[in-house]
Amino acid sequence: MSFRDISKEALVGSITLGVVFVAGYFFGKPSKKSEAIFKSHCKDNPLLQYILNHSMREHPVLKSLRLRTMEDSWNVMMVACEQSQFMANLARLIKAKRVIEIGVYTGYNTLSMALALPDDGILVACDISKEYTDIGKPFWKEAGVEQKIDLRIQPALQTLGTVDLCQNSIFISHKMNYFKPFYLNLMIIAYVLWGGQVLNPSPDDLDTVAIDKLNKKLHRDTRVSLSMLTVGDGLTLAIKL
Ligand SMILES: *[C@@H]1O[C@H](CO)[C@@H](O)[C@H](O)[C@H]1NC(C)=O
Repeated sequence: MSFRDISKEALVGSITLGVVFVAGYFFGKPSKKSEAIFKSHCKDNPLLQYILNHSMREHPVLKSLRLRTMEDSWNVMMVACEQSQFMANLARLIKAKRVIEIGVYTGYNTLSMALALPDDGILVACDISKEYTDIGKPFWKEAGVEQKIDLRIQPALQTLGTVDLCQNSIFISHKMNYFKPFYLNLMIIAYVLWGGQVLNPSPDDLDTVAIDKLNKKLHRDTRVSLSMLTVGDGLTLAIKL
């Protein structure tokens, strides 16, 4: 099945089985408040430090890319490394052969997923920024996985129209503002806690309102069973019943 045949609205409830969907939500720029919360996510949390100390196995090139990304003023857009490792483990678990990622930024998660793919695996990476993805490219090469990464610099919808989903695909998106979530065997939706702001969404904070709305919608949806994890900035697993 190809995205080409499906209208944006009709994506709900229509997609093929056997596919993992990972959605993150970035609606424009993160607010100062969420930025502060993101930055403190580890420093003031010894338990999280313990978790990182006892579970992270960050590839040395991933680490270099993370440190390079921290020099960028938009580094809050980078996915938490433990969350990235979790997604890569899901790819290993379902023996994913294909990953489609929307929103690459500097390509930390792209590299992490590419490292988890088998030699014949392909990751189609969608972004409109050459500037940011250029930061990641040399690291993809250094890690020896650049041949698995098919970067398309154009609006994601154009790329999706050309990508066939197969069994054991993973769909990751960090920029889902124009998609309805669509129902695959397993959907993974990232950034569902939005720095804790979902507790108190102020009506003029459209990002938080949209995320809170999606969380409520998923909870009401009897077609899926749910787990909301506190990994990174929150990750919801929605499993099709
Ligand atoms: C985590 O590791 C760092 C570096 O080795 C150490 O300084 C810190 O105390 C450790 N924290 C926990 C809670 O394990």
